Amino acid sequence: MKTLLKNGNINGKIQNLLIKDDIIDYIGTNLPDADIEYDINRLILIPGMIDPHVHVRDLKQSEKEDWTSASNAALKGGITTVFDMPNTRPPTVNLDYLNAKREKAKLAKINYKFNVAATSENLKELTELLNTKPEDVAALKLFLAGSNSNEYVDDEEDIRKVFGISLKYDLPVIVHTELQKCVEEYSSKVKNPTVFDHNFMRNRECSIKGTELLIEHAKQIGNKLYLAHISTAEEIDIIKANKNKCNVFCEVTPHHLLINEDILKTAGNFGKVNPPLRTEKDNNRIMQGIIDGTVDTIGTDHAPHLLSEKQKQYSEAPSGFPGLETALPLFLNEVNKGSFSMGKLIEITSDNSSKIFNLKNRGKIEEGYFADLTVVDMNKTRRIEAKNFKTKAKYSPYEGMTCKGDVVMTFVNGELRFGI
Ligand code: DOR
Ligand code: ZN
Repeated sequence: MKTLLKNGNINGKIQNLLIKDDIIDYIGTNLPDADIEYDINRLILIPGMIDPHVHVRDLKQSEKEDWTSASNAALKGGITTVFDMPNTRPPTVNLDYLNAKREKAKLAKINYKFNVAATSENLKELTELLNTKPEDVAALKLFLAGSNSNEYVDDEEDIRKVFGISLKYDLPVIVHTELQKCVEEYSSKVKNPTVFDHNFMRNRECSIKGTELLIEHAKQIGNKLYLAHISTAEEIDIIKANKNKCNVFCEVTPHHLLINEDILKTAGNFGKVNPPLRTEKDNNRIMQGIIDGTVDTIGTDHAPHLLSEKQKQYSEAPSGFPGLETALPLFLNEVNKGSFSMGKLIEITSDNSSKIFNLKNRGKIEEGYFADLTVVDMNKTRRIEAKNFKTKAKYSPYEGMTCKGDVVMTFVNGELRFGI
């Protein structure tokens, strides 16, 4: 099967791209024969986004999201590969539960891998699971604090054991850096909290101290440390200062880059997330971190919950909101504004994740690579309206924002899965 994408803007040049089955076979100005042809009309082709941080839920929380709704949301957002997080019900702590998840994921319309949980209790089972040499496991996931319903590890010896496993099996360990004791301490200081206290209670100090501690252990152990959803200016500084001293990588979310606690006035609990939305100063430092290369990847932390749960009062509303459909439009909007280049966008949304997580032949538009491709129209505007979302979670802190730049077609393994 041959598919031809005619007149696409690839790296600034109008070129044709031939896909043979699922692989990019040719890029250039020739017009080879094909079974199917699409005219890209000079729009820009970028590698499909690889999102290392997605909560698909499914299993016993399929009312919040399942593989079908998550896939549709990802495709609309130009995301072709997701890594599913393990804080599901049941949690991905052993081979049986991973197998249950594998069954559900057969419905996925995108590429996927799993991040498996590391807790104080499951290290033996985790080793057994990893001894099966699972090709579909991307990384280990470690939480240093509770965030909704996950288990967390707060013992430093256990953290070191997890890092040892990460080194032995050559798998990155993705860490949620907030420290549980610190969060408890700050939280106890506020009586009758509202969402405006969230940033104080899950205090920046808890994230910063966690990041410092993790980097110190990673320096000694030498494993690949991937710090998830970095939210503060201080952490960007710490990571920058330590990049050449250990194997540390830094992920940021669109929300920690582009919005801050001010949005809670309109978004309320729809903007409740862990780590919390911080300040404009943090947004600015994170943007600088993108430009200077401290930030390696963008992860959406797509964390769908029921609208009815998010509408509860602050202390009962779960943290997290959907991100698959808004990430690329928000980032394309930043390219249009001149915040960073399209090359930088490609680096942090696909190329770097592919390298960090050792994905074979994905994350680039080059001959021999899988044809995971996203067509973007930099002149198309989109108003973010949650009622039109494909995810089951139909609410968003970005409600009403307009982005210039949108996804118009998404190809996964050479097949058009979204667009005309
Ligand atoms: O806000 C969040 N929601 N942060 C997390 O760490 C977990 C996530 C979820 O699973 O809902
Ligand atoms: Zn998450």
